[in-house]
Amino acid sequence: MTATLITNIGELTTNVERDGDPTGLLRDAAVLVEGSRIAWVGAAADAETHLLRRDDAPKPTSRDGFDVSRIGSGSDGSAGGGDVQVVDAGGRAVIPGFVDSHTHLVFGGDRADEFEARMTGTPYAAGGIRRTVAATRAASDEELRARLAGFVAELHGQGTTTFEVKTGYGLSVHDEARLARLAAEVTPEVTFLGAHVVPADYAERRDEYVDLVVGEMLRACAPHSRWIDVFCERGAFTADESRRILAAGVAHGLLPRVHGNQLGPGDGVRLAVAAGAASVDHCTYLDDADVAALAGSDTVATLLPGVEFSTRQPYPDARRLIDAGVTIALASDCNPGSSFTSSVPLMIALAVREMGMTPAEAVWSATAGGARALRRDDVGVIEPGRRADLVLLHAPTRVHLAYRPGVPLIDRVFKDGVAPV
Ligand code: NIG
Ligand code: FE
Repeated sequence: MTATLITNIGELTTNVERDGDPTGLLRDAAVLVEGSRIAWVGAAADAETHLLRRDDAPKPTSRDGFDVSRIGSGSDGSAGGGDVQVVDAGGRAVIPGFVDSHTHLVFGGDRADEFEARMTGTPYAAGGIRRTVAATRAASDEELRARLAGFVAELHGQGTTTFEVKTGYGLSVHDEARLARLAAEVTPEVTFLGAHVVPADYAERRDEYVDLVVGEMLRACAPHSRWIDVFCERGAFTADESRRILAAGVAHGLLPRVHGNQLGPGDGVRLAVAAGAASVDHCTYLDDADVAALAGSDTVATLLPGVEFSTRQPYPDARRLIDAGVTIALASDCNPGSSFTSSVPLMIALAVREMGMTPAEAVWSATAGGARALRRDDVGVIEPGRRADLVLLHAPTRVHLAYRPGVPLIDRVFKDGVAPV
């Protein structure tokens, strides 16, 4: 089995709680990866001893003792004749790969004109979604697949190793099923969002559209999906419609999540909590009852500051939620309307600068928090047995993700133990 030792890590964020620190920060650390999983985490100084104790340990290469720098024979640090590749982190920081728990990456066209108008005062409205629906329906599978592949490369290059993708720009049985199928080609975290908005062709027949979503459309999409989502918001779906849609999805074996309280106060958060949703996303406009409901639940509040950045809305108050005991995830919401960025580092910078989060909280929320929002226990944490999804930063500490906004700080990405393809 191939093994990689990442050593000389100046600062390792494990997200394994330690001495009251939920991020389990270790200094001068090392991580041993075997195959696709993490095999060992510890002090860099102990790495050699640990390697020697492994059953299949390579033999010492010098009489003076075991020299980890000589385990692999490649002079560039790549695996050569030895069985352990050594990566010298050079004192830099390593964090878990980002878990982006909310994206809408299968779509045609873009809405740069809408963004430009917004920057000079036109407010964001959910109705813009219909423009992307028209462009998506007009795009071939090959066009959508190629676009999606480009986004996936973009995500990997920015340190995201797990991501969710929603449907929601098809809004017909044929097109939603096509988007779900395409999304399932790139991630197991596919969300059926037929209830994104009522499409133009059903504008005067919204009850019929909801019937379609909970019937034929759901049956066509459920085999490709893990999640059911609904945009519970003025201009999209009412609380009653949303409850019906989530219940239908659950009856088909899907797990619920909700878009709520994005454009104004509403029922989304309380409805999500009542439905046992894994996550309620946006949470921009919350009252005290919403915060209390979240605090007493297992529902994660997923905050999407790219939306507030791109729509000039007020940012959600992360501090208020954290102080109330709510679990927070940070995600990109990458979509052509409200947040056309796939950069989780940007979300971290915005969360720290605008939402009252500490850098440690923001990094936790973009990794372990995202994993919670997707109910995944194999990612978001660096400890033996978990997936070897790690990011070596081109920075000495994770604080730099917020401190140096807009600077490419992702040096090297490991997904399942290797560079993602
Ligand atoms: O998460 N809120 C609903 N859906 C997307 C926006 C989609 C769009 O504007 O195209 C969101 O912000
Ligand atoms: Fe969204």
